[in-house]
Amino acid sequence: METKDLIQHTTPFYCYDLKLLNETLEEAKKHAKKYEYHIHYALKANTHNRILNSIQEIGFGADCVSGNEVKKALEIGFPTSKIAFAGVGKTDEEILIGLENEIFAFNCESIEEIEVINQLAKEQNKTARIALRLNPNVDAYTHKYITTGLEENKFGINSWELENLIELLPSWANIELTGLHFHIGSQITSMTPFKNLCIRVNELNKWFSERNIRIQHLNLGGGLGIDYNEPEKNPIPDFELFFGVFNQFLEPFSHQEIHFELGRSLVGNCGSLISKVLYIKKGIKTNFAILDAGMTELLRPAIYQAYHYIENITTASDNKEFYDVVGPICESSDCFGKKMELKETKRGDYVKIHSTGAYGEVMSSKYNLREQNPVVFLD
Ligand code: LLP
Repeated sequence: METKDLIQHTTPFYCYDLKLLNETLEEAKKHAKKYEYHIHYALKANTHNRILNSIQEIGFGADCVSGNEVKKALEIGFPTSKIAFAGVGKTDEEILIGLENEIFAFNCESIEEIEVINQLAKEQNKTARIALRLNPNVDAYTHKYITTGLEENKFGINSWELENLIELLPSWANIELTGLHFHIGSQITSMTPFKNLCIRVNELNKWFSERNIRIQHLNLGGGLGIDYNEPEKNPIPDFELFFGVFNQFLEPFSHQEIHFELGRSLVGNCGSLISKVLYIKKGIKTNFAILDAGMTELLRPAIYQAYHYIENITTASDNKEFYDVVGPICESSDCFGKKMELKETKRGDYVKIHSTGAYGEVMSSKYNLREQNPVVFLD
């Protein structure tokens, strides 16, 4: 779609490039297939039906973190045998949805949670398949709010609890332990944390095997980052490198299946947020470009100081200037970036905020009674 078609829509709006989505999915599939790796899509990144349909059709499973995400995955047609259900705080009602549908695995984060699942499964006369989400204490070297694999984080079962856990295991008659699950964080751009994760997983995997506990699958989570700086140059992440690291450093037993839960890397670069410039206001050093999109549409810059490449898509000018690009919301954190270089921008220009396909629209809010505009899909 050309810019002239794009700017007919009421701003701000999200726009998704389904062609790029499908190319990204194909690329991920191709490289995972080499090692017979299984991919689950982390629904939390984006839950549009058209996006989910493409992901389901290519054969990936689903990674859900709420009862509603499990319901959504079922509605889209993901097979129950490919649905994993994670989260530190699953409610009884949510657990029942998983039990009723006999999902692939509950990724469990505490002994207390396993006890509750066992009790509910007993009442339903079911056996729940579970994977233990273990906290590997591996640093992901990413923003602290999206680091999950350190002992100080609320996620996962810490290693000092494992002896106790395996003593309790035989008493949980309605639990079948099938897997070990890990997720160290998100937007990880160096392969070193993944290599370190493999080393730790190998140790833990051996630990279980030495105690004659047969683990059928290892789930390494998600976390592969995307190129926010140059999304047009590198629209598709390097899945070959990513899966290659696991192939090189992970030492699974021959009967074990390897699973991943990718979110951002599959959908991040296929989405953009299109917004109109409302005003250019004089600042002390740089001028403010005030957009009609704000933190209500895209929260990531406000809470993770995240950078998104912003481009003026309508100006005829080739002059570049620096702007503090901000939204209209009554919060100083409603800022997409300070001193951002844009082509000379004026009221009425349209800007494209790149790489917003993951954790963009799903994290939007109605704060300030903001409207939500329809989305545009580019086929
Ligand atoms: N598995 C688990 C257990 C997770 O917690 C997550 C993401 C994923 C998989 C998918 O991770 P990905 O491949 O997308 O990195 N809102 C933040 C990101 C939060 C990620 C939460 N967990 C952001 O906008 O950067």
